[in-house]
Amino acid sequence: MKYDKQTVRDIDVSGKKVILRCDFNVPLDKETGKITDDKRIRESLPTIRYLLENGAAVIACSHLGKPKGEIKPELSLKPVAARLGELLNMPVAIASDVVGPDAQAKAAALKPGELMLLENLRFEKGEEKNDPDFAKALASMADVFVSDAFGTVHRAHASTAGITAYLPAVSGFLIQKELTNMGGAMENPKRPMVVVFGGAKVSDKINMINNFLTKADKILIGGGMAFTFLKACGYGIGTSLLEEDRIEVARELMETAKEKGVKFVLPVDVAITEKFEDTDNRREVAADAIPDDCMGLDIGAKTIALFESELEGAGTVIWNGPMGVFEFKAFSAGTDAVAKKIASLDAVTIVGGGESASAVGRLGLEEKMTHVSTGGGASLEFFEGKELPGIAALMDRQA
Ligand code: 3PG
Repeated sequence: MKYDKQTVRDIDVSGKKVILRCDFNVPLDKETGKITDDKRIRESLPTIRYLLENGAAVIACSHLGKPKGEIKPELSLKPVAARLGELLNMPVAIASDVVGPDAQAKAAALKPGELMLLENLRFEKGEEKNDPDFAKALASMADVFVSDAFGTVHRAHASTAGITAYLPAVSGFLIQKELTNMGGAMENPKRPMVVVFGGAKVSDKINMINNFLTKADKILIGGGMAFTFLKACGYGIGTSLLEEDRIEVARELMETAKEKGVKFVLPVDVAITEKFEDTDNRREVAADAIPDDCMGLDIGAKTIALFESELEGAGTVIWNGPMGVFEFKAFSAGTDAVAKKIASLDAVTIVGGGESASAVGRLGLEEKMTHVSTGGGASLEFFEGKELPGIAALMDRQA
């Protein structure tokens, strides 16, 4: 795919102060506060290194969690500054505020080749409101804006969109990589294109499924959302997750697939139990034989075999959403098997969405995939074909 936004390579950054929006919204251990997955930090390194090596003074910024305009010490970016320092083997100072006196002073004193971090952008109310004064205050510390926060480009916030009104705005290498890999797979797929969708809710995925009904050759459905489709087929689904108000949409999606000649594959068996919990009491039944008092929490062995055979020979695979409640050991087999099968294919393989990406990371399969997106909501909206405000705001290459 042709990438048509300007990048850091298209501008002169030498001697400039660069404000760099990253997505350092990383998972933290609830008890220790330690970072449990630093992928988003590691993925930001190529752009940071390029800027530092080319003589920029880099003021990095990000949100972390949802502090909603309040200072929440447990959501400080201090652990991120420490991890960046370790990975880059250099000191990374962190301001005690976002656009306040400490941030302004540290930014003013920053020299070419140095890196600092602002505190959590969402400690300020103006961030999520895309407040022009807050965007202006952020911009006032720098000469250039670089966005590399792919995970946040679906948000029109002050640090992703508003700031571009005040500074020249280009992308970093992570955004370029995400859009080139995912866009290439969507626009010009090697056939057959097989998409695998899971996750809890149909309502979250309708637009994405609709978009792929015009692109994919096969759509495989697992996860909690499969039960609304099974219900739409007239099956009893016991106490499994159901979106009653989406049964009709599920039926329509399956009809459209038929009209368009897209193979739509639902689970043929499911792993069930009585309660929503990890359990030894796990059984497998046919998808049309779920007892009234049981819920399906994963795809069954026959479905795993079916999905594996449907994936065999694929040219392009796009995967979004787990096949079951993979946090429970008893119900992780479906997600693990699908991840392993996709990783084994000689195909373009794209994994988008926080949970599927974390399953791939947990299984150590990241290197076996063509691309594992850092975006959760952002990759979902990208797969829906939506315009992403944090991308639209960047300067076009022709400009
Ligand atoms: C994410 O983790 O998906 C991004 O960092 C965006 O976070 P948000 O959903 O809190 O806006």
